[in-house]
Amino acid sequence: MNATIKLESTHYPVLLNELISIISPLYGGTFIDCTFGQGGYSSKILENKLNNIIALDRDRKVNNFANILSKKYKNRFNFFNKKFSEIDKLKIKKENIKGIIFDLGYSMNQVKDLSTGISFKSTSQLDMKMGLNDLSADYVINQMRQENIYKIFKYFGEEKRSKVISKNIINQRKIKNLNTNDLVQLIEKSLKGYSKTHKATKIFQALRIFVNKEISELIYGLINSFKILPIGGVLVVVTFHSIEDSIVKFFFKNYSTGEVGSRYFPRLNNKKKLFNLVKKKPTSASISEIKNNPSSRSAKLRYAFKMSENNDFIEFINKFKFLLEIENLERK
Ligand SMILES: C[S@@+](CC[C@H](N)C(=O)[O-])C[C@H]1O[C@@H](n2cnc3c(N)ncnc32)[C@H](O)[C@@H]1O
Repeated sequence: MNATIKLESTHYPVLLNELISIISPLYGGTFIDCTFGQGGYSSKILENKLNNIIALDRDRKVNNFANILSKKYKNRFNFFNKKFSEIDKLKIKKENIKGIIFDLGYSMNQVKDLSTGISFKSTSQLDMKMGLNDLSADYVINQMRQENIYKIFKYFGEEKRSKVISKNIINQRKIKNLNTNDLVQLIEKSLKGYSKTHKATKIFQALRIFVNKEISELIYGLINSFKILPIGGVLVVVTFHSIEDSIVKFFFKNYSTGEVGSRYFPRLNNKKKLFNLVKKKPTSASISEIKNNPSSRSAKLRYAFKMSENNDFIEFINKFKFLLEIENLERK
């Protein structure tokens, strides 16, 4: 089996048909795949000879997949090992861009790689870094102050027992540094009773969001994508948890209702309609997709077409300021 076949046959890109049906009517052009991963979206989009892809991923380990596409589609594929919040720093011709795509979260490769500590099964040192990070989960759990650990768990994991868990961590780490397995066991002991999902799910989500600064990545990823997207271009975002989805939902909904006002009720603010939001509700995976790929169960796809320019996103930033502050908590 050659590498190209492997790339196409072992990976289920989530909501792929839905994505293709949104971008196909745009008739060829350049698309930016902000979360390249195993290249599932990029490969499918490149099957149309009129399409070009600029791809980004913060994880260096995806370079192998990117190299396969670079060889196959010499002049139509370009890859950058960068965070998508820096999308506006790429030197690209803005006028050619037809769409910008985000498929948030983790690739199966990242989850299966037990050295990253993303999976509960990992026995290694705590890590959870996706790439281009400045700290790891080991630092959070074994170095940070209890009140800061508590806030991370409470607001990024929405875990009700955050206080007890953070207190137990402080007591336990006096004896030895905690690794992934120690943390899973500690959470299981701290949370008594039945749970539908793995008991460590919420705490692991919180650590991944904090370590990878997922809130600011998403907020500035959306704002900076908006800046480089020409009018008429589409922004497509697939999310996997409620915090991500609430950010994307607010961005699209808030800026797609330009309050026009009337002769009798003049407009009260200067809100411009930035997007045409074709569908208010998100698209979810079908039953058959969930059967083939159970992790698609929590995926939500939202998209909107850009209608006008804007430089002021203060309202958006302020709405999620509190979460941005948690991400920048004092490091001790
Ligand atoms: C769910 S996977 C994408 C899968 C891809 N759509 C496919 O079909 O193979 C998400 C990818 O986004 C990358 N990623 C997450 N946050 C990122 C960020 N802020 N900047 C760049 N890449 C990011 C991850 O490293 C991971 O490889």
